[in-house]
Amino acid sequence: MTGFSREGAALVCDGVALDRIAADHGTPLYVYSADAIAERYRAIDAAFAGCPHAIHYALKANSTLAIARLLRSLGSHADANSGGEIDVALRAGFIPAQIVFTGVGKTAAELAQAIDLGVRTINVESAGEIERVDALSRERQARTRIALRVNPDVDARTHPHISTGLRTNKFGIPIDEVKTLGARARTLDGVQIVGLHAHVGSQITDLEPLTRAARALVSLARELRADRTAVEHLDLGGGLGVSYDGSPVPDARDYADAVLPIVRESGLSIVLEPGRQIIAPAGILLARVVDVKNAGARTSDLGPRTSDRLFVVLDAGMTELLRPMLYNAFHRIEPVIRTDAPLVSCDVVGPLCESSDILGRERMLPRPQVGELYAILDTGAYGSAMASNYNRRLLPAEVMIEDGRARLIRRRQTIEELLALEL
Ligand code: LLP
Repeated sequence: MTGFSREGAALVCDGVALDRIAADHGTPLYVYSADAIAERYRAIDAAFAGCPHAIHYALKANSTLAIARLLRSLGSHADANSGGEIDVALRAGFIPAQIVFTGVGKTAAELAQAIDLGVRTINVESAGEIERVDALSRERQARTRIALRVNPDVDARTHPHISTGLRTNKFGIPIDEVKTLGARARTLDGVQIVGLHAHVGSQITDLEPLTRAARALVSLARELRADRTAVEHLDLGGGLGVSYDGSPVPDARDYADAVLPIVRESGLSIVLEPGRQIIAPAGILLARVVDVKNAGARTSDLGPRTSDRLFVVLDAGMTELLRPMLYNAFHRIEPVIRTDAPLVSCDVVGPLCESSDILGRERMLPRPQVGELYAILDTGAYGSAMASNYNRRLLPAEVMIEDGRARLIRRRQTIEELLALEL
């Protein structure tokens, strides 16, 4: 379920024509399907129905307020990775008891914020962080619920930039130190261990690393319990991937079928922190062609230069969607109105002053025309959330389709707003 489909030649979102939306709101523009978000959230919830669980949507994937609010209204809780994301969660209506706070470099101010609010758990990353949470909590006569973020030394077999579960990654407490730290934490009045957490990477399409991490957590929980630490929940993190190219990948049910038998036996409840699985396919980026130019011969080309290799320059690039440049990520790129022009090989590029500003290489597209509208698919996660102002470009607008209507949920930034910070 994505919410995007073709009606004849035209790409539509839940029945609303995307060319109309672009005409009304301009480009570059993110468009989300509220129905798809809801359906994808419910699919995870249903898949885990066999076990007590809470879904803490990973705000980092996309924390535009309307999206966070929609997820809250569906029953989701929140996973925040910074003080800013905690603030957003609160403004979106999540209560502190629905927020888990994760993150590798929480500052003292952020920890104090989470402790004062009384979030559900702070997922602690290191021995030092346990001591800091303890000290800050004791200053406040508080006892903070923590989960130990375990680094299980599991290879997520995803892009190295989004792998987090290997010993060599900066994340979490090495698995063989967890017991000792657990014993130490038990002696501290300011903290109470209530859970174990692991997040081994993102865009994982092979269930094995996820089941290995779950097994590691279950066996650690058993050891901690034997040591008189009352672990209540296992936080399995996020990480389940989506199909960016249309090839089959495991879905929420496959994931649940793989991990539930492992966790159920422990009698513990589950916390999940999905981001991409919920929001990636429910969003697209619309952009207009601003120029079409012949591409020069490539050094790797053995044959003669062909005139049919084109650069299609869009009005969106790495400032709106960084994933292709940062992770070599593939996103389908399609004309919003399909034409029967002959197919040509195109490099779809952005307008930024960077050679890496390439959204898609060697794509066969109907010969593009200046002014034509393009859609970059599956960009709901880590798209707008990672947008920047490089080259003084303005953050794009965002629209959500709800009940057959397009609602502007974030307007385009203005140059005045961008410059307002400067003294
Ligand atoms: N929980 C923790 C502790 C995380 O670090 C993350 C993502 C998630 C949950 C959500 O993971 P998801 O279900 O979305 O895979 N910018 C990259 C992805 C970075 C993911 C960072 N952590 C990308 O565009 O692929």
